[in-house]
Amino acid sequence: MAIEVAVVPVAGRGTRLLPLTKSQPKEMLPVGQKPVVQYVAEELLLSGVRRLLFVTGPGKTAIENHFDINEGLIQNLRENGQEDLLETLDYEREEVDYFYTRQRRQLGLGHAVLCARPVVAHQPFVVALGDSIIGLHAQSQIVRRMTGIFEREKADAVIAFERVLPEDVVHYGIAEVRNEEDDFFELASLVEKPAVTEAPSCLAVAARYVFQPRIFDYLERTAAGKGNEIQLTDAIGSLIADGGRVLGVTLSAAERRFDIGNFPSYFQAFFEFAMEDPQYGEELRGFAKKILERGR
Ligand code: G1P
Repeated sequence: MAIEVAVVPVAGRGTRLLPLTKSQPKEMLPVGQKPVVQYVAEELLLSGVRRLLFVTGPGKTAIENHFDINEGLIQNLRENGQEDLLETLDYEREEVDYFYTRQRRQLGLGHAVLCARPVVAHQPFVVALGDSIIGLHAQSQIVRRMTGIFEREKADAVIAFERVLPEDVVHYGIAEVRNEEDDFFELASLVEKPAVTEAPSCLAVAARYVFQPRIFDYLERTAAGKGNEIQLTDAIGSLIADGGRVLGVTLSAAERRFDIGNFPSYFQAFFEFAMEDPQYGEELRGFAKKILERGR
């Protein structure tokens, strides 16, 4: 059975991007011609997901507005002879159901996912963090690849990983690998944001997960951990400790993760998406070349 529902946590405050995120969600920041969250939705639809459940928080209504069908705007464009712009709104017509629930207290990512329980109930589901795009212009099928392995291997969870530099392990959930198979590896444990000296590997959780609904039982029992937040990583760790089959897939070069959670990687993502823009990329590449030749 295909996995139909994806939970997209978008409740985080975005403090690492202040003042940009003071009055707008980081998930609505532009990366090239679209806001981050539109790429996330497009990626999920490309992988066969048909229901998106956003777990929102204070100041996030712009996300809901973005996915509404705005009849007034459409009519306006028609009346003003701007029909050529209508195609920029095609995404509004996608065959997808949107659901929104609120994380009423900021208790961490694990708690945000737990807020989805009443809607997701007893079905397997995807979690896609709303501040990360996978693949240039989100043209990756990572989630389809993960759900394929999830079903074939009868896993309890499948998690996407990317290799990071040792000095960066402190920012991520890090895998301890039990054994490697052809297109996945099995996890022995998972640790949230370890010190370099304690990291079991350099394989970092990369914003995409597939779960059996039993993860909710573990989230219910998970106490606050790193940063005094209820961590999804800790619930997965307990699932593994209980004998759960938790598998990792490593992102390929075409499935690179663009992290919109901090300035250096946000700048890089915008720069690369704009440089590769089908409409304006070529001109921008020329412009960038001129600036670089001019020197500093
Ligand atoms: C979260 C997770 C972490 C993961 C990261 C990127 O951290 O807790 O395990 O590696 O997303 O997917 P955050 O970036 O919210 O601090």
